[in-house]
Parts: sequence; C-alpha cells; structure tokens
Amino acid sequence: MLITGLWMVNMAWPLTTRWILEALALWALGIGGLVIFLAVLRKQLRHLEAEGPGTAAYHRISLVGRGLGAGFGLVVVFILYLMVFKPTP
Ligand code: HEM
Repeated sequence: MLITGLWMVNMAWPLTTRWILEALALWALGIGGLVIFLAVLRKQLRHLEAEGPGTAAYHRISLVGRGLGAGFGLVVVFILYLMVFKPTP
C-alpha cells in the first residue's frame, strides 16, 4: 500500500498535503506496532508451548496481543478514513 500510495501521490498530489503526511505517519506507527505485535506473539507462543494456555502469564500476554491487534485495526481504519474523505488540504 505504501508503494501504490506513493505512486498515486506522485501522479496527483503534493507530498506535503496534510492528509497524506498524516497517513504516512500513521503507516509508520502501524509498522512499528506490527513489529511489537510479532514480538509479543512469539513470546505468547513460547508461553503456550512451555506451560499451556491455563497460566496467568499466558493470559496476560494474550491480552496484550489482543490490545495491540485492536490498535493496529484502528490505525488501518483511520488511514482508510483519511484516504476516502481527505479531510485536510
Ligand atoms: C501511507 C501510505 C499511503 C499513501 C501515501 C496513500 C496515498 C493515496 C493517494 C494519493 C490516493 C489517491 C487519492 C485521490 O487522488 O483520490 C489514495 C487512495 C486510496 N487509498 Fe491510499 N495511501 C496509503 C495507504 C493506504 C492504506 C493503508 C489504505 C487502506 C487501509 C489505503 C486505501 C486507499 C483507498 C481506499 C483509496 C481510494 C480513496 C477514494 O478515492 O475514495 N491507502 N491513497
């Protein structure tokens, strides 16, 4: 999406357009969140393999993973909002 997005920017928009800069910032935030999410997922799998799903530690880490997943979804929805409504010139 970054590549096709930047391609469309190159065709039709100045790169300094506010909603595009906001989308790029959110995209970077989303990638950062995804990297953290993957690290948390790996830790969750380690807990699962070592102790099974019944422990408090596993519960805690799976909640963190779920929270990060929901946050990631919100970032995507907000980027979609910026794309469709282009609220700031
Ligand atoms: C940060 C990277 C991105 C950049 C720089 C970018 C940039 C753009 C640009 C310039 C357009 C054309 C707008 C127009 O001329 O009408 C566009 C359209 C669109 N983008 Fe992105 N985009 C990015 C990421 C995304 C993502 C992550 C999504 C989905 C979640 C997305 C969904 C869309 C959609 C649905 C449209 C069509 C909107 C419409 O015309 O109604 N884009 N994008």
